[in-house]
Amino acid sequence: MLQCRSYDRCSTIDVRYPATWMHDLQYNDTITTVSGYLSMNILSGKHIILGVAGSIAAYKIAELARNLTLEDALVDVILTKAAEHFVGQATFQALTGRPVLTDMWALPEDGVVGHVALGIHADAVAIAPATANTLARIAAGICDDLLTTTVLATQAPILCAPAMNPQMYAAAATQKNIATLRQRGFTILEPAVGRMAEPMVGKGRLPEPDVLEGEIRALLGRRSGPLRERQVVVTAGGTREPIDPVRYVGNRSSGQMGYLLAALARDYGARVKLISGPTALTPPPAVTVIPVETTIQMRDAVLAACVDADILIMNAAVADFRPAHALVSKIKKSGESGLILELVQNPDILGELKEHHKLFKVGFAAETDDLIANAKGKLARKNLQMIVANDAVASIGQPDIQVTLINADGEITALPRQSKSQAAAAVLMAIAQRFNERAC
Ligand code: C5P
Repeated sequence: MLQCRSYDRCSTIDVRYPATWMHDLQYNDTITTVSGYLSMNILSGKHIILGVAGSIAAYKIAELARNLTLEDALVDVILTKAAEHFVGQATFQALTGRPVLTDMWALPEDGVVGHVALGIHADAVAIAPATANTLARIAAGICDDLLTTTVLATQAPILCAPAMNPQMYAAAATQKNIATLRQRGFTILEPAVGRMAEPMVGKGRLPEPDVLEGEIRALLGRRSGPLRERQVVVTAGGTREPIDPVRYVGNRSSGQMGYLLAALARDYGARVKLISGPTALTPPPAVTVIPVETTIQMRDAVLAACVDADILIMNAAVADFRPAHALVSKIKKSGESGLILELVQNPDILGELKEHHKLFKVGFAAETDDLIANAKGKLARKNLQMIVANDAVASIGQPDIQVTLINADGEITALPRQSKSQAAAAVLMAIAQRFNERAC
């Protein structure tokens, strides 16, 4: 059974019924409708175990526990004995609204023996911070406390975020334990490099809570998301075409929509490559980011990434023209005279993939005139499955956006003006729905 909630703001648009592929979502997945299209919060109703080991970085997990709870996840925190020296039970209890677990002999029995019940019911386990000692105990199969017992008893995906003194992290024993766990299918994050609690800089810091949340979302998506086992390529931002070493021809794309789509595709379980022109945005966690600058670089990266991809979402604002000659020295003003730039046409990236029939291709059309007619022309010329049309003037620099989806079969759906994140959710669910219908 699917729980349904409606975020619809426009009653004139039909809510689509779940396609057959959605029936195998887990019973407690929450499906929401965003402007007529079904959307999904991968965290909602999921049972997540946060295992906290004894490191000064444990304080960061309070924020993670809070954020996951606010996203409707059921969060059970297990503290190791050492963790209790750094953080208190009351903090996590208040943030998750659930008792904090420390003792494997003090759990209620609900048909399954208490100390293994947690692991059996979990949708994901995240151990953060994971200390050298906890990693070693798990690698050796020791189960002498609630956390290690839960890990041994679970079939849920497990994420470990090592955090420790850089020398302890680099030690051969720790590296061997990490390699063993990776081999067993654990997802092990690289610690961040930076200032440690003791006055030294090195590799051993716990990644920030939003990075951990992104990794947990990816873990859950790969288990039950509608795009699990799929490869999705998203392009974002604007390309820059050099005039000389300090100037370029570019456009005003912020990259926001592409970054949102990449993060959502990750939540839906896809392996995501985000090919991005320069932006001011923080890359989404658990997404492979390939930074590019020019259209030629973007073309090369897209063609390489699409060799084994299932879906290409070409959201980037690609510069249609580039200077015929990029100068190696800065152009100087001379007297009162202006400057004439000779521009040549850039390759059409989507156009070059016209014959890639297995790839589900989605284009974007930002137009100032004849929006629908121009978008339909591009859909046909570039042999796309879907195009997302929007009014370029009304959307640049605005928090809200109005997009219209046009499918290859001629169906046109105008979505209401809404926030970019709502629009991205509606667009991605429409893509997933169409892609899965085609794949069936
Ligand atoms: O060709 P036009 O820019 O009008 O079409 C827009 C769509 O084509 C967008 O999806 C954009 O990312 C893509 N495009 C491309 N290569 C170009 C220009 C645009 O793939 N050189």
